[in-house]
Amino acid sequence: MRFFIKTFGCQMNVSDSNTLQELLIDRGGTPADEPSMADLLIVNTCSVREKAERTAKNKIKEYGSIKKKNAALWVVGCMSQRVGESLRREIPSVTAVIGAMDMEYIHTQIDTLLETVESANTVSGKGRSYGECSAFIPVMRGCNNYCSYCIVPYVRGDEHSLSVEEILNDIQKKVARGVREITLLGQNVNSYGTEKTTFAELLRRVNDVPGIDRIRFTTSHPKDISDELISAVASLSKVAKHIHLPVQSGADAVLKRMNRKYTRAMYLETIDKIRRACSPIDITTDVMVGFPGESESDFADTLSLFSDVGYTTAFMFAYSPRTGTPAVDFPEQVPEKVKKERLQELISLQTEITKGKYAAMKGKTVEALITYKSSRGWIGQDMGAKRVFIQSTDDLYGKMIRGTVSETTGMTLVISEYTRIS
Ligand code: SAH
Ligand code: SF4
Ligand code: F3S
Repeated sequence: MRFFIKTFGCQMNVSDSNTLQELLIDRGGTPADEPSMADLLIVNTCSVREKAERTAKNKIKEYGSIKKKNAALWVVGCMSQRVGESLRREIPSVTAVIGAMDMEYIHTQIDTLLETVESANTVSGKGRSYGECSAFIPVMRGCNNYCSYCIVPYVRGDEHSLSVEEILNDIQKKVARGVREITLLGQNVNSYGTEKTTFAELLRRVNDVPGIDRIRFTTSHPKDISDELISAVASLSKVAKHIHLPVQSGADAVLKRMNRKYTRAMYLETIDKIRRACSPIDITTDVMVGFPGESESDFADTLSLFSDVGYTTAFMFAYSPRTGTPAVDFPEQVPEKVKKERLQELISLQTEITKGKYAAMKGKTVEALITYKSSRGWIGQDMGAKRVFIQSTDDLYGKMIRGTVSETTGMTLVISEYTRIS
């Protein structure tokens, strides 16, 4: 059986798609080079913004028209959870709709699901090397925060943490396959907690796993950053010096209506604490412009917060109304044109800040893990959140290198001389 998976959305979706891929390979499946050659096509969808759903729908329709006559077309993930079986009425070529909440238990359902897939052949793909050096490890799923704009709690369900044993098992399996870097995942990863274990304690346990070079985690909610977590990041040798801390807005009135449960002052105090405990460190963020009721002066507060914090990079979005969330019904929806203008202004500001952060690295020594080969050279990440580029004929995939930054472009540290440290 040949399969083809197309993934939209966040790292949790990438992780779910990887799990699906492993399950299919273990059952004799082989990845197809082209969707038109596959016996099973899977689209893993995202609902977070209207555009994400539109893009996914177009892809599903496209696959419906190019797929082999008897090939199966599964739609999985957050949009499947939100719209359910009505998707099959809208796009009849879809053969199964599997929601995001089912993805956690997909290993118990996959065999039944596969019974309906007609496969050209079942040549065993067992023993194929998965070959990745960096992997995502979900440690908690779902979200209870109900930010007023966000669809995630409705499509991913209630927050729950996985046990330390499950997590360490998952990590050990991946390390045995050659994984060197892991990213612990959760919608709200720093509220991870079981009876015995806080997120900081989990980081310490993972830091002790032999064979791991680097540990990352995302996404942290500013209201749940504990002092214990900050000192764990500062002191644990394998934990990347990077915290992704979505701010969403720099204006208190907007943060309140967003139900974010912190103020601008609390957020800035957290940033200060992090920087006092750990320097250098990359801080990155998510932000939204054009939330209902966002005035010019609220937007100016976001701009000034960006200047004050100095994020290494930021994901910047225009607010997209999501049916079923409270904010769709809020008064004073901001016109699309204004949202676009504000987004452009914020992007221009952040682009300059990012350039400055990269330029300041010239001449500095960095340690980078190389995770990707492009047509031009090797790409990796430094100990923080910065992209590193090396041109070399050596095989650097999965290797740690130490080198001096010889030049920087907008968003890349270029390294010309380096030594391998693993
Ligand atoms: N759990 C994470 C990320 C959730 S989704 C967190 O709490 O930060 C990723 C990002 O998408 C959010 O941080 C937010 O900036 C953005 N986002 C979520 N809902 C959105 C919406 N309705 N319109 C525009 N952007 C949205
Ligand atoms: Fe959405 Fe807020 Fe939960 Fe993040 S914390 S997933 S933005 S509801
Ligand atoms: Fe999108 Fe679902 Fe992630 S809505 S952002 S894929 S949790």
